[in-house]
Amino acid sequence: MSLKSEEDLIGMQQISQVVGLTLKRMQEYARPGMSTLELDHYGRQLLELHGARSAPKLTYGFPGWTCISLNEEVCHGIPSAKRLLREGDLINIDVSAELNGYWSDNGGSFILGQDIHQHSHLVETSKRILAKAISHIRGGVQLAEIGRLIETEARRSGYRVIKNLAGHGIGRSLHEEPHEILCYYDRSNKTRFRKHSVVAIETFLSTKATYAQEKGDGWTLIARDSFAVQHEQTIVVTDGQPIILTAANQLWG
Ligand code: CO
Ligand code: CO
Repeated sequence: MSLKSEEDLIGMQQISQVVGLTLKRMQEYARPGMSTLELDHYGRQLLELHGARSAPKLTYGFPGWTCISLNEEVCHGIPSAKRLLREGDLINIDVSAELNGYWSDNGGSFILGQDIHQHSHLVETSKRILAKAISHIRGGVQLAEIGRLIETEARRSGYRVIKNLAGHGIGRSLHEEPHEILCYYDRSNKTRFRKHSVVAIETFLSTKATYAQEKGDGWTLIARDSFAVQHEQTIVVTDGQPIILTAANQLWG
């Protein structure tokens, strides 16, 4: 969406605080032995406490309130009583929700407890690249240039980007124009970021795979034989540094 009034900005700030806080609290709440369903229930309680509704459930009929993806799963993991969290797991939680007609999206990968499988470099690289990508976005910058930045930085750090997942416009619904803010350079895409527009910027990095594939449960996407991470913030594009609406998530440091 394009912000048209103070009311629009306040509406976006409110739902962004809710999703940012929910993501942060869920990351803190996760424990070894806990099921992903239990973690999702906690997220549901937080969203409902603030009057917010799950965006993937509302938009796509997703079977959960938040998406929780483990290890080789990249995104859209279904909360399940059978999936138990283990020490050292690479966990991605993606929280998107609606409040008063405004929608926001915030996601992040983290390591549960001790980093026994040495995932921290991948996680920290993704966070750093997202922060750098966001700092380069302003009105007039081409989407493709941000894709190039993400891909170049990932490669420099020894990782690949997932090519069939992307960031997107957001605000009055979960997914809006522009529909594909890719993590690589697409020379055919001449679209530019527009001042006052709201977009969700997402990094999708993996140790090997460059395409996410369906796991077979109708929702979950996996990076075969790889570990994958995602970090996502909803921002307002300006003439200068973007406003990071979902910055309530303090784990961003
Ligand atoms: Co998301
Ligand atoms: Co998103």
